[in-house]
Amino acid sequence: MGKGKVVLAFSGGLDTSICVPLLKEHYGFDEVITVAVDVGQPEADIERATQKGRQIADKHYTIDVKDRFVEEYIFPSIKANGSYEGYPMGTSLARPLIAEEIVNITRSEGAEAVAHGCTGKGNDQLRFDFIFRSAGLEIIAPMREMNLTRDWEIEYAREHGIPVSVGRENPYSIDENCWSRSIEGGILENPAHHPPEDIYAWTVSPTQAPDTPETVRISFEKGVPVAINEEDLTGLALIQRLNLIAGRNGVGRNDMIEDRILGIKAREIYEHPAATAILAAHRDLEHLVLSRQELAFKQCVDEKWAELGYMGLVHEPLFAALNAFIDTTQQRLSGTVDVVLYKGSVHVAGRSSVSGLYSDEMVSFDSPMLDQTHSVGFSAFFGLQARMHKNMDR
Ligand code: ARG
Repeated sequence: MGKGKVVLAFSGGLDTSICVPLLKEHYGFDEVITVAVDVGQPEADIERATQKGRQIADKHYTIDVKDRFVEEYIFPSIKANGSYEGYPMGTSLARPLIAEEIVNITRSEGAEAVAHGCTGKGNDQLRFDFIFRSAGLEIIAPMREMNLTRDWEIEYAREHGIPVSVGRENPYSIDENCWSRSIEGGILENPAHHPPEDIYAWTVSPTQAPDTPETVRISFEKGVPVAINEEDLTGLALIQRLNLIAGRNGVGRNDMIEDRILGIKAREIYEHPAATAILAAHRDLEHLVLSRQELAFKQCVDEKWAELGYMGLVHEPLFAALNAFIDTTQQRLSGTVDVVLYKGSVHVAGRSSVSGLYSDEMVSFDSPMLDQTHSVGFSAFFGLQARMHKNMDR
């Protein structure tokens, strides 16, 4: 007696491909339904997953959620200056949405189990499982349950007529969406090993970037980018455009040791040109518009937001509360920021907003707006207790 239907999160790579026959032969399912969720991977990858899914599974779905990903996950992360241990979050933002889409198919197909190809050492298994468990589904994860070797997988694929790209299978594990590209594994697992230039796909080496700086004006409305160089664009188009512009200037590379949720340290390499430029601009605009109190408090909120986001705990009630606070601060966050991209660096050259708390009249030495003699009295009280303390042991 078979076990019915299982829905598999499918990328078309070797691991998830061999999951299809494994779910039948080893786990006893009657029907395997593959789902590829498009969050802005290269079109060729989506195409490959679609072809392969149709060929080897009983039924296949490819679902395009790129715009939703931008509006519901990337935009909130921009408002929260979303970065984990110093790099713009990427993979972690996409996982809940991919998992939700898989839950939807599981429901519409009347399946009770889901499967994914995550290993038992990374973060993605936890992010996926969290959503799947919340939905009450049985979870199958062959890669972490079966301890398979690469050679066994290739042989098993051949036996089952699953096309394996012979020769140079990609030596790295790459995860990509429109906000970020991450490269790990292979020789990169030695943290002392310098990354070869050919692992990069979105950025040129800063040493190869043009000798003239490129300036881009990013316009924000309520905390999210809406235009580049005064041209209004959808979120997705804006990010894609800026990935090209910042990428050709070598902006947005990271090579780092990262603390995974399980506590394992990993060497990770990232490319995120648009994210680097947008987050730099967004932070700068916040400094113009938000009060000192808001800025200081929001820094803690942003950090907590990133921690929960990184873990994929998007249904944690605190996450909604943090988003509510962040949204309140972003209501006034409209304006423009000019960023200069040059050989791997990005810096802000100018900013403006009608909601800015900056006043040149106030800060100017010559202006009568605030009478500087009033500061004499303020200064007399300033640091009173610390001055008393300093003089105590004289
Ligand atoms: N360490 C990052 C994260 O957990 C990225 C992992 C991406 N996976 C990959 N196979 N490159 O968010």
